[in-house]
Amino acid sequence: MTMELQGKHIVLGVTGGIAAYKAAELVRLLGKAGATVQVVMTEGATHFVTPVTFQALSGRTVYTDQWDGRIGNNMAHIDLSREADLILVAPASADFLAKVAHGLADDLLTTMVLARDCPLLAAPAMNRQMWENPATQRNAATLRSDNITLLGPGCGDQACGETGDGRMLEAAEIVEDLVAFLQPKALAGKKVLITAGPTFEALDPVRGITNLSSGKMGFALARAAREAGAEVTLVCGPVSQPTPRGVSRINVTGALEMHNTVMERAAGQDVFIGVAAVADYRPKAAAEHKIKKDGSAPPAIELVQNPDILADVAALSQPPLCVGFAAESRNLAEYAEKKRRAKKIPLIVGNLIQDGFGGEENKLTLFDDNGQTPLPVRPKMDLARALVVHIAGLLDQR
Ligand code: PMT
Repeated sequence: MTMELQGKHIVLGVTGGIAAYKAAELVRLLGKAGATVQVVMTEGATHFVTPVTFQALSGRTVYTDQWDGRIGNNMAHIDLSREADLILVAPASADFLAKVAHGLADDLLTTMVLARDCPLLAAPAMNRQMWENPATQRNAATLRSDNITLLGPGCGDQACGETGDGRMLEAAEIVEDLVAFLQPKALAGKKVLITAGPTFEALDPVRGITNLSSGKMGFALARAAREAGAEVTLVCGPVSQPTPRGVSRINVTGALEMHNTVMERAAGQDVFIGVAAVADYRPKAAAEHKIKKDGSAPPAIELVQNPDILADVAALSQPPLCVGFAAESRNLAEYAEKKRRAKKIPLIVGNLIQDGFGGEENKLTLFDDNGQTPLPVRPKMDLARALVVHIAGLLDQR
């Protein structure tokens, strides 16, 4: 994880629920992402985890009591929220949600929340029936209309033995949502379709032609576009990357399948980004059974050309803004510009194979009608966010 929360001061409210144990991991992950964390617990939360745990993990005194004399002016609720860039409450119990929805302030956390001048995010955690209860649903709707962001809840096994909605999101999911919340919404309301990873062109049931694309660049772009407010569909070849939260993922294998999947969805998209390293050729026919070594000459593989997905999307009568990628081992500017013209697309993103394939970082050069924009070596996630801003600028010029 990069320092995506560097410089942020987060007040983490912990309320009474068994998911409070996950808040310990949350403090650790928030700190790892560069944030400073001030923990405030309700009295109920202290029955599940002690303040000492949070003090050790956050390196700060934990506050639990509205009448705590340790704060000079005895106004902990004002001082703590005044310093915060945001307040995150995880787990947020049904009782806490109800209190905030009605403006109640009968302990340090709810008083602080009422007195805040910063965003409030809450990760609900409760039994399935408590979450489904009309009163809780009414409260959740009130909170949303009051501009409070609810993260989750997730669905799955519950500590009470039941299964359903109400589980607190995992700590890593909460951090991902929090980072997304803080990004500028340059693509709000836009639809973005992205290809990522390699394709696998079958020779027989177990063998095929593929390449070393890991999918990291395309997945980073999908996450960045989602963070920027877009509705994102990610069509990817065989990769082992986790799906970014909120992104709709479609797994495919060969270039033909990727082509069909993209063409079925391309109309109505605002942006199409081809990050996939698509095989230009595939074996003319895949053998039905495993190709055997029978002592004679090695078999010749006859190849046929795959359709060009990006060029076909760009040729639609009302195409989305099309963005291509070009991975080259030399002459980057010349070859990238050539591909941009051949595919008739407004923007191509050039990267050198030695910089881009497989690793965590990359170095990009953007080629469009305005010239070249270099983006120096950075983690792929940082580059993806910068590219999203560039694409949003081109959309505005359209
Ligand atoms: O996945 P990673 O390990 O993170 O690596 C990222 C990457 C290096 C694969 C990525 O940044 C990248 O450069 N992807 C494009 C690879 C490439 O060189 O593609 P190409 O030159 O074959 O194709 C040019 C463009 O046309 C690409 O946008 C490609 O998706 C598209 N294309 C190509 C062939 C084809 N049949 N259909 C296509 O849509």
